[in-house]
Amino acid sequence: MEKCALVTGSSSGLGLEISKYLLEAGYMVFGGSRSGTDLDHDNFYDVELDITSEESVEEFFEAVREFTPTFDLVVNNAGICEMSPISETSLEQFENHLATNTVGPFLLFKHLDSFLIKEQTHIISILSTAAQYGYPNVSAYNASKFGQLGLLESLKKEWKDHKVRFTNLFPGAINTPLWDKMGSKFSRDKMLTTQDFMSVFSFVVEAPASIQFPELTFLHREGFLE
Ligand SMILES: NC(=O)c1ccc[n+]([C@@H]2O[C@H](COP(=O)([O-])OP(=O)(O)OC[C@H]3O[C@@H](n4cnc5c(N)ncnc54)[C@H](OP(=O)(O)O)[C@@H]3O)[C@@H](O)[C@H]2O)c1
Repeated sequence: MEKCALVTGSSSGLGLEISKYLLEAGYMVFGGSRSGTDLDHDNFYDVELDITSEESVEEFFEAVREFTPTFDLVVNNAGICEMSPISETSLEQFENHLATNTVGPFLLFKHLDSFLIKEQTHIISILSTAAQYGYPNVSAYNASKFGQLGLLESLKKEWKDHKVRFTNLFPGAINTPLWDKMGSKFSRDKMLTTQDFMSVFSFVVEAPASIQFPELTFLHREGFLE
């Protein structure tokens, strides 16, 4: 039987690349997003998911349960990022970041328990260097990613007896559609490419199951964006 993977945020950027790579590697992939993708593959299941809504998360898991009782790999990837000085950040914007980047993973993990395979499931979270360091003009993003890290740190201990593997990735800036929506001034030349990101992601997925990567930080060789 094929291995099964869940990927949140599969409609764009990293989630889309991750889904394509996993399909190529022989996984059945259950992708969740609001807008969906035209990715056409026999082993790809494009399932509607709004990670900010518990009802939507429950419906997502009900839909996938018809095809698989368990996941070998879970990629916690869906996220949003907007830039603005704090004085120009609306309460709604700040709450949207928390809803997507912090509450979203909470809802995902809250309903994931029964899909875990003891000593096997690998949970890879795409955090950000913004879960480790502060950057100006992204207070909402910074707060939401630090919050997500806190959630994962708690969960690692709570699920100790499941013996599932947690990998937390902390990439620096990557040239994806996320930056198109932000309209930022930063040069794309000083960002990782999606291929750079995938070389690290595939290394982690293909590594022997006896290895864990609790914290993997990687960024463009020229350093942080300034
Ligand atoms: N690009 C970077 O520089 C960078 C660096 C470090 C970390 N990251 C992290 O990498 C992850 C992916 O980012 P990306 O660069 O690939 O961005 P992207 O191209 O904008 O993709 C974001 C994905 O998240 C999904 N998403 C957003 N809100 C959602 C919701 N409410 N429910 C379900 N899915 C939702 C989007 O799908 P729909 O809109 O269709 O729902 C989309 O598939 C994010 O967590 C981001 O913080 C990115």
